[in-house]
Amino acid sequence: MKDLFNVLFLKITFLLFTFSLAQAQNTGVLNTDQGKTIIDKHIYGHFSEHLGRCIYGGFYVGESNTKISHTAGVRNDVVEALKKLKVPNLRWPGGCFADTYHWKDGVGPKAKRPTLVNTWWGGVTEDNSFGTHDFLNMCELIGAEPYLAGNVGSGTVQELAEWVQYVNFEGVSPMSNWRKENGRDKPWNVKYWGVGNEAWGCGGNMKPEYYANIYRQYATFMTNWSNSSKLFRIASGANSSDYNWTEVLMRDIPHGMLEGVALHHYSVIDWNKKGSAADFSEQQYFQTMQRALFMDELIIKHSTIMDKYDPAKKVALVVDEWGGWYDVETGTNPGFLYQQNTIRDAILAGATLNIFHNHSDRVRMANLAQTVNVLQAVVLTQEEKMILTPTYHVMEMYNVHQDATLLPLQITTNNYVIGTEKLPAISASASKDNARRVHISLVNIDSKNAQEITLDLRGGKFTTVSGRILTSAKLQDHNSFESPDKVKPVAFKQATISNNILKVTLPAHAVVVLEVR
Ligand code: AHR
Repeated sequence: MKDLFNVLFLKITFLLFTFSLAQAQNTGVLNTDQGKTIIDKHIYGHFSEHLGRCIYGGFYVGESNTKISHTAGVRNDVVEALKKLKVPNLRWPGGCFADTYHWKDGVGPKAKRPTLVNTWWGGVTEDNSFGTHDFLNMCELIGAEPYLAGNVGSGTVQELAEWVQYVNFEGVSPMSNWRKENGRDKPWNVKYWGVGNEAWGCGGNMKPEYYANIYRQYATFMTNWSNSSKLFRIASGANSSDYNWTEVLMRDIPHGMLEGVALHHYSVIDWNKKGSAADFSEQQYFQTMQRALFMDELIIKHSTIMDKYDPAKKVALVVDEWGGWYDVETGTNPGFLYQQNTIRDAILAGATLNIFHNHSDRVRMANLAQTVNVLQAVVLTQEEKMILTPTYHVMEMYNVHQDATLLPLQITTNNYVIGTEKLPAISASASKDNARRVHISLVNIDSKNAQEITLDLRGGKFTTVSGRILTSAKLQDHNSFESPDKVKPVAFKQATISNNILKVTLPAHAVVVLEVR
């Protein structure tokens, strides 16, 4: 009997010991006095394409619509939500649509504008009622810098050069005169310009060598009309892990005519079997997160290529399309890419932004796809109703990092394990803002287990901590028009500081942003 008792005692002690080890492995050191790079606020950019209900119905309801409060046809509720988000830049008009878009068809009296068929997205007839003036004035309302994607695939060099002149030239010229006739005296001074989109695919199915030459030609005629509008030209970048694309662009385009190289990566489980946005298994969640965390490897490998040609890191890596991509909601147009947005997307957003922060020496701009009613949207609308998605809340919680100094944060983390596969359970990043406030973003990717993490705060004296958390009972939880506040951030109480040691208990599948003082 005594022997049995001893064996049991030893076994229980061993189990308790291994359990506590498993729970105690999340540790880290945060050097609060060692930051070097700035987290460019432009990595918090968004993307708005003429696709489904993003522009029409989402941003723009037209001036004759009386039910929805608007300013020159642009929804006031959406503008207010995006102002609060501190959207730094907005990409438009595509996407694939950009390489079918002829900007001149979208200026001047609306009744006289020609139509076009939106061949990529549902084959709907586009009436061009939302054009250059509408978009650029809307950016002013939101307080976002516009990022115009030029048509390279089916446009001309002259067309793009004239667009630059139309929006940026202050003096007398055919295009600036036309702008003035159309009601806008002062130029908008648009800095960010995409030279085509997905040139390897919907933008023309080009080879990288061919596109690099085309880019050189277009960029040559894109004029800096004034110092305040010095152009930031972005080359159409690689599809996910097409490293050769980046290699050729960096090799063949003189860096004096290239400010950014794009990269597109969507977190898709399988392009033929994407799965439902809100009705998914834990296995599917795990696979989405594998695809999302792959962003880290992508950035490292594309940056390594860029470093070879541009060791001073003058050319930015611009991840101008990223996010989760699932099946469209039942009963909606398959060409409209309308999907719900759950805690899975919040985790995806938090972890991806941490990756961008931690690579902020090279990643200086990014655009989540897409802002309203399309893919991983931050806002969903239904007639006069509008809801904020879990992704919106993460972007809002995280905006304390905009233009703050990245702080080196090394963590050791447990794994989130499913069967034989594993992912790091915790994703983290930290920054110090101009007012010397230190913010730490922590994501517990593990969908089942709470994680306790201990951070050694160095380089200052820290005594208090506060923060917010975004989580919900289930990964599939989301906001709906019937229940718009099911998922929203609340004050976070599971963090303490003692002797400069920060202890945090992160519930399963949660995003937390802390401020330590
Ligand atoms: O965001 C939807 C589409 O995805 C964009 O139009 C295109 O650039 C990408 O393939």
